[in-house]
Amino acid sequence: MPETKPKYYLTTPIYYVNARPHLGHTYTTVVADTIARFMRMCGYDVVLLTGTDEHGQKVERAAKAAGVTPQAYADRIAGEYEQLWKELDLSIDRFIRTTEPRQERAVHRLLLQAKDKGYIYKGFYEGQYCVFDEMYVDEPLPGGLCPECKRPTEKVREENYYFKLSEFQDRLLKLYEEQPDFIQPETRRNEVMAFVRGGLRDLSVSRTTIKWGIPWPDDEKHVIYVWYDALTSYMTGIGYGDDEVQWEKYWPAELHLIGKEILRFHAVYWPAFLMAAEEPLPKKIFAHGWWLFADEKMSKSRGNMQYPQPIARTLGIDALRYFLLREMVFGQDGNFSRDALLTRYNADLANGLGNLASRIVAMIHQYFGGVLPPPVPEASLSQIAVALASKAAEVQDVAVQYYEEFKFSDALESIWELVAATDQFLTEKKPWALAKDPAKQAELGEVLFAAAQSLRHIVALAHPVLPHASTKIWKQLGERTDIASQDPKHLAWGALRPGTHVGEAEQLFPRADKKETSERIEAMEDEIRNPAGTPSTAPPAATPAAGAPAAGAATAPAANAKIGIEDFSKVELRVGLVKSAERIPGADKILKLMVDIGEETRQIVAGLAVSYTPEELVGKKVVVVANLAPRKLRGVESNGMIVAAAVGPEGKPVICTFAEDVPPGAKLK
Ligand code: MSP
Repeated sequence: MPETKPKYYLTTPIYYVNARPHLGHTYTTVVADTIARFMRMCGYDVVLLTGTDEHGQKVERAAKAAGVTPQAYADRIAGEYEQLWKELDLSIDRFIRTTEPRQERAVHRLLLQAKDKGYIYKGFYEGQYCVFDEMYVDEPLPGGLCPECKRPTEKVREENYYFKLSEFQDRLLKLYEEQPDFIQPETRRNEVMAFVRGGLRDLSVSRTTIKWGIPWPDDEKHVIYVWYDALTSYMTGIGYGDDEVQWEKYWPAELHLIGKEILRFHAVYWPAFLMAAEEPLPKKIFAHGWWLFADEKMSKSRGNMQYPQPIARTLGIDALRYFLLREMVFGQDGNFSRDALLTRYNADLANGLGNLASRIVAMIHQYFGGVLPPPVPEASLSQIAVALASKAAEVQDVAVQYYEEFKFSDALESIWELVAATDQFLTEKKPWALAKDPAKQAELGEVLFAAAQSLRHIVALAHPVLPHASTKIWKQLGERTDIASQDPKHLAWGALRPGTHVGEAEQLFPRADKKETSERIEAMEDEIRNPAGTPSTAPPAATPAAGAPAAGAATAPAANAKIGIEDFSKVELRVGLVKSAERIPGADKILKLMVDIGEETRQIVAGLAVSYTPEELVGKKVVVVANLAPRKLRGVESNGMIVAAAVGPEGKPVICTFAEDVPPGAKLK
């Protein structure tokens, strides 16, 4: 009989498609991915669900403003979410879109179960409605403002179907009391309990004023309330009404991860909807805090969003993850600053883990030809190696417990205590000095053996947060096993066998120049915020397009870092012959070129207009980056990039030429 693993089903909120994904959405999804990876290491059969919330007035209005259908709008933003999670290499198992047919079937089923039990009736609503929060506001603030978001509400009058929320007050309070960790953190639980004790009114669960939604099962005039729809997606995503086997296996969810602003929907409405339909309740709802920017919540409406891609593409995916989890105390708000990001990166990753790993591996090469030396027999172990081993065991226990409690910042802090202890161990034992004395070979071996074991502990424990870098270091240590299936509770000191061949030392987190890197990130942020491309703020001509995939982004080199030949060979450079060039109306720095690159003629938009007239470029042989992902500049598609030197303080572009005549399409090596 194959061993059956216990299951662990967790979800992120399904994100609205009225705005593109930003760092706030990324935060929740990265946290979910970290928990998923940790639980997989602990032997669970994990399912991580995320997705997009595509119905409702917000989306309807955003689409109208953009002049497209709501479905076309939803398709585009949902695609951006999927693409971003892929770029960040998040271990997502299920992705649900609320416009999928399976969602409608599931929502109808849940609703009809509640209706059959008598919890749904037809009524009439007249009052204020908050479009932003997609909810009726029974008691608006003075001036008709929504008490949640403080935005103006709108007067609506409509016939509705109601859900008998008022009947669930006692059952909900009983739930919170009997399962004290149903809502976490504790402060949030208290808020919800106070709200429910204050009394619950029936909830309108249909709309006639909105068209963009799932139709009411037997009354097409109505669409189903967007939150009833959205919450049900947690069930649809694992087969409710569609795939009974999956559904039975994974429901109820062990964890719904959410931001604190949507707690009431999850901790009050959702369990009530499920109780009414007699379906099992999720086990836990954890409401975390917000990333703030200059003390304000990062959000589309405030226009202060930061995006994850520039950080991931500049410092690497793992650096982004590390910062998000280390800097913010999970559950509380945290301020985002690029300065803090780069300080942490340099201190903890470049000088900390990255440096430690490359030093240890390099010394094993230098002193033992790349083969892990044997430890000195137990009896003669020096006290200091014993102390390091016991520190590793202590950190293991503490970090595991913190992970289990979702205290990621504390977990990382404790793992970095072991980084510091290992550094200190090397500083004290001075292997470089021992190496000079042939009589101290055994001691030198012991020191490096112990340091390597400790590094093995560090990376296994850091794996949920730094999946890519930890895997690389794991392999550098000569480990053949899969780091992702190490049980973090049972890491054995000494598991790394003497005689193991270690890999090449590699600096995974090159030091970043703060000013230069910060400027690069900012320029990329601008590019994302203004995808039409304003050449004055766009990166210089030879910087990769923002849409280019972050190949090997986990270890993407920081500024001025050395790359290997395999990285360089990913860039396809070809000779291009400019066949035609023209200006783009309204854009004075860019030109649209048609460039013959051998097998085909490409349209390329290049920021060359400050240096060349279109006529000057026609007939020129240029260097083209031929394998860049297409992107749009000022709405014009560009399929490649022209290489140019950026000269002077303005970065004036000067194109490259050839000493001899060369045919279009010839490859540059
Ligand atoms: N569609 C609803 C959720 C339905 S779930 C059944 C929704 N979508 S949203 O696009 O607005 O996403 C909100 C979630 O994104 C927050 O709950 C949080 O998880 C994440 N964040 C959005 N901005 C954030 C910050 N500034 N900081 C941290 N997380 C943030 O609400």
